[in-house]
Amino acid sequence: GYVVSLLVFYGTCLILNLCLIFMFPPYTDTLFFIPLTLMDRAWFPKTLPCDVKSSEGTVTVDCTDRRLTEVPRGIPGNATNLTLSINHIPHIYPTTFNHLESLEEIDFRCNCVPLKIENGSFAALTSLRSLYLDANQLAEIPRGLPATLSLLSLEANSIFSIQEASFSELGNIEALYLGQNCYYRNPCNVSFEIEKTAFLGLKKLTILSLKSDNLTQIPPTV
Ligand SMILES: *[C@@H]1O[C@H](CO)[C@@H](O)[C@H](O)[C@H]1NC(C)=O
Ligand SMILES: *[C@@H]1O[C@H](CO)[C@@H](O)[C@H](O)[C@H]1NC(C)=O
Ligand SMILES: *[C@@H]1O[C@H](CO)[C@@H](O)[C@H](O)[C@H]1NC(C)=O
Ligand SMILES: *[C@@H]1O[C@H](CO)[C@@H](O)[C@H](O)[C@H]1NC(C)=O
Ligand SMILES: *[C@@H]1O[C@H](CO)[C@@H](O)[C@H](O)[C@H]1NC(C)=O
Repeated sequence: GYVVSLLVFYGTCLILNLCLIFMFPPYTDTLFFIPLTLMDRAWFPKTLPCDVKSSEGTVTVDCTDRRLTEVPRGIPGNATNLTLSINHIPHIYPTTFNHLESLEEIDFRCNCVPLKIENGSFAALTSLRSLYLDANQLAEIPRGLPATLSLLSLEANSIFSIQEASFSELGNIEALYLGQNCYYRNPCNVSFEIEKTAFLGLKKLTILSLKSDNLTQIPPTV
């Protein structure tokens, strides 16, 4: 009896469905739209709170000022330039970006909350060339950065002690911005300290900014 009522139930559903399609053409439209929607989803979900632009070889994803408290899901896997500035994201982990291996540039400036970056958070990004982490109240230079980096910007943080070991992975760095880490608007209350050999390994360095850093001396090996 149970099986029979199930069969009757599904039979009715089937017929009803067909009738619905027959009686309400818009319903058929919906059916045709489903595959289109699914294809769209493979690219990126409509719920992604960011602007996505794709042009020759570049996919830019702009999530500026969207009140985000975490990196949104659904960023397209072939994103090359990602902007997450002016949000409220407190923590970056090694899993945060590890599925976005095409990234060449991350702009993560001005998160309005203190930011904690776990070491190795960018290690999987072997195409990363530019990393902007300014104005995030960072107290240290993150470790485990990819060796591909050519630009690193850490201005207006709370980094006032620079060691050679901080840059051990950054042999390809060309531009290093470390300014405004200790000045009247962002006081650190001590002298900005740079280990004598800190920049020795950075053979490709052409731009080094230490503006407004409460320096008492210029490191002799710069
Ligand atoms: C990125 O991937 C989407 C979906 O596969 C594709 O339509 C787009 O052309 C790709 N863009 C680039 C620059 O590779
Ligand atoms: C990152 O590594 C350095 C050097 O080993 C260590 O001093 C620092 O505390 C680590 N940072 C975090 C957030 O774990
Ligand atoms: C994307 O990032 C690369 C690497 O930093 C940069 O040279 C390029 O100008 C960026 N493109 C856009 C459209 O922002
Ligand atoms: C330096 O002193 C000011 C004023 O007392 C304080 O607000 C700030 O947090 C101090 N900075 C550090 C890095 O301790
Ligand atoms: C600069 O360093 C001196 C010690 O050399 C310290 O007394 C002063 O507070 C520091 N300035 C700022 C703006 O943190």
